Amino acid sequence: MTTKSVLLIIAGGIAAYKSLELIRELSKRGIRTQAILTRAGAEFITPLSVGSLTGGKCYTDLFDLTDEAEMGHIELSRAADLVVVAPATADLLSKPANGVAGDLASTALLATDKPVLYAPAMNVRMWTHPGVQRNVDILRKDGALFVGPDEGDMACGEYGPGRMAEPVEIANAVEAHFAAMSDGRLTGRHVVVTAGPTHEPLDPVRYIANRSSGKQGYAIAAALARLGARVTLVSGPTDLSAPPGVDIIRVQTAREMMDRTMGALPAEVAICCAAVADYRPEIETNHKIKKERGGLSSIPLTENPDILRSISSLDVGRPELVIGFAAETDDILCNADAKRKRKGCDWIVANDVSTGTGTMGGENNSVTILSEAGEESWENMPKARVADRLAGYIADELVKRAC
Ligand code: C5P
Repeated sequence: MTTKSVLLIIAGGIAAYKSLELIRELSKRGIRTQAILTRAGAEFITPLSVGSLTGGKCYTDLFDLTDEAEMGHIELSRAADLVVVAPATADLLSKPANGVAGDLASTALLATDKPVLYAPAMNVRMWTHPGVQRNVDILRKDGALFVGPDEGDMACGEYGPGRMAEPVEIANAVEAHFAAMSDGRLTGRHVVVTAGPTHEPLDPVRYIANRSSGKQGYAIAAALARLGARVTLVSGPTDLSAPPGVDIIRVQTAREMMDRTMGALPAEVAICCAAVADYRPEIETNHKIKKERGGLSSIPLTENPDILRSISSLDVGRPELVIGFAAETDDILCNADAKRKRKGCDWIVANDVSTGTGTMGGENNSVTILSEAGEESWENMPKARVADRLAGYIADELVKRAC
């Protein structure tokens, strides 16, 4: 296995001293580190101590021509396999979230083509501030990874979330990332995933839609790509960025989703995660429907094509494994199993989307996987973990089917 390397960006927080320990922890695990120390970071630790531990130069300034001659800042940002920001301060998080680059650290974050793992560290009130949370959301949507912050006593004397994850925890996250990237169990396989809602137009300004955020489907696409699959993500309108390494096709309506999904086949696996509108307005007018036109007491609807059922019932070119989702509010498992049989898919992932569960649009999901073989319920967990576990199950299933 080739040696993995990390570009560690150390920003200005008291937790900067822990980054020295992180360099040692990574080195113990055979991971090489190059480091950038921001000007504020250099108020807490010295470039000399950082350089002594990395065994190389500690980069500090964007306009240092000696550095630029040795290794340009673009090259530096791309030379490593992963960029780790620890501690990630509120200030440094705000820069890539808003496309701002003013120094070497923020420039490297915009210029890199590698995944970025942030280990935030700040006062509890700063961490919970809506401005910081907004930036964290943006970075997550852009595909960034996060570890921590932990909850506990802080250097400032307060208690709560904001303390940087321990160096061992950060090194574990780095190793887990590398393990997932090098797993390669789905290399050479093509997976088509549908995600998000559909918008069914009524007139040029109005449409019928639903509350699906697309988060679970995007997380699944990302997890499959990490296992080496070629992933085509056919997505309805969402505000999420395409996960790294995933081919995205953006659509609006169920009919477009159907065309583009069918067009993306053949694939070994199809996962229909999208909340496709079952019905669309029968007539889409090309003028805005006016209030004074004698009132509108009903909107005639017509049924949309069922993508999951269409894929499941393909005589030629049916993917080996077809997976559907069943978002239910009542009698969840019974309804989901009936749906699996009706649609003809192999597995169905059932989840409870009743009001109060926070599943629709939220970060967590509680799912049960139903198949011919039975059912398996998973504990409530972040959508990213549901995705990783599901991707692992898919890889195992393909191996089983090949035997
Ligand atoms: O029938 P229902 O919408 O509850 O079924 C949910 C499952 O069917 C999901 O996997 C969804 O992506 C898929 N579906 C579809 N096309 C439709 C309706 C649902 O692919 N028109």
